[in-house]
Amino acid sequence: MKRGRFITFEGGEGTGKSTQVRLLGQHLTKAGADIVQTREPGGSPSAEEVRALLVTGAADRWSPLAETLLFYAARIEHWRQVIEPALARGAHVVCDRFADSTMAYQCYAGGLDKHLVQELHRLAMGKAEPDLTLILDLPIDEGLKRAASRRDDETRFERKGRAFHERLRNGFLDIARSAPKRCVVIDAAQSIEKVHEAVRATVSARLSL
Ligand code: TMP
Repeated sequence: MKRGRFITFEGGEGTGKSTQVRLLGQHLTKAGADIVQTREPGGSPSAEEVRALLVTGAADRWSPLAETLLFYAARIEHWRQVIEPALARGAHVVCDRFADSTMAYQCYAGGLDKHLVQELHRLAMGKAEPDLTLILDLPIDEGLKRAASRRDDETRFERKGRAFHERLRNGFLDIARSAPKRCVVIDAAQSIEKVHEAVRATVSARLSL
């Protein structure tokens, strides 16, 4: 059985990742592929419990290191229970956020040491990484406006302030520059349909799917 491909979507708040994950999932399913759609933090029962601790409550609820360890605790379980078994049986996994979010949010924006997180990633995940990462890029005012119009209580990171989100956006762009074989930046200011077309074209060109 040929191993499936692991595709991740990344980006700041309100960039439309969840919509694009769903549209790509529908497109690949229609084309006959076995697709697993999932998200981080969360994606498995125990990881979803950890998610609730991370995305609600006061912005300074966790120290940067404690927060990062919680993201990785959730990621280990998500990988072990959902992502790895799916890839092993030949399904393609489309995931809303993965390890680049930790590097962008906790390191670039939050100030945690990048080498520490790289080492933690190696300990927790070995060499596991996505085959393709689509980074949805949007000016932060537009992203925060879109995120604010969603009525949910998962606002812990949205409330971190403008400078945080500026560092976050630059962090994702820097990650894309440093891993050009894996990452593609997509202009998320376009319409949902145009972004989806760009996503499809990229997935087809990079992974032949
Ligand atoms: P979501 O809004 O895309 O579902 O993600 C939940 C929040 O968690 C979002 O504000 C980004 C944040 N996050 C991190 O800070 N680090 C991580 O490693 C992940 C996966 C998400």
